[in-house]
Amino acid sequence: MKNTFIIIFIIIILLQIIQIEKTNPKSNPKLEIHAPKEIMNIFKRSCYDCHSNDTNWPWYSSIAPVSWSVSSHVEDGRQWLNFSIWNSYTINEQNKKIKEIFRSIYIAMPPSDYIYFHEESFLTKKERNLVRDWTGVMNDNKPIFTNITEKIHE
Ligand code: HEC
Repeated sequence: MKNTFIIIFIIIILLQIIQIEKTNPKSNPKLEIHAPKEIMNIFKRSCYDCHSNDTNWPWYSSIAPVSWSVSSHVEDGRQWLNFSIWNSYTINEQNKKIKEIFRSIYIAMPPSDYIYFHEESFLTKKERNLVRDWTGVMNDNKPIFTNITEKIHE
């Protein structure tokens, strides 16, 4: 029994040799998404760790094997949607992503295991609806993203 613990301990120590890269690539502030403050606050609080270049890497993200899982979430998340480079997406891409945000913010995002470790990322139904309204997806016959900024400043 004692030996098993020692072996597990040694394995965990050895795993630490495989370090992952935790990068926060520099990004041009001009490329960041622009949205009203309430919406930005929601995105920053609940989405930015995985969908921007400004990830807050928690202490446990330095410890293998947790680190592999955290970094692959961030890599994946950024690839799907990166708010830090939003304006480098084409209008078509933005429209597609805005529809995905509309869809995923209701249940899938932020992921429930993430909420478990980051209580503050939990979104109330009201906050989810606020983002959904902001996307404008409910008004199908309007071009979606191009109108949003104007709509918000009305
Ligand atoms: C813990 C990391 C994490 C957080 C926090 C997170 N996401 Fe994601 N997101 C991912 C990953 C990983 C994917 C890649 C596809 C998948 O696993 O579903 C993804 C995919 C997406 C997609 C595209 C795919 C789809 O399902 O349509 C959208 C849109 C999205 N996230 C929006 C959000 C929004 C909005 C928030 C904040 C409210 C958020 N995410 C918070 C990790 C995260």
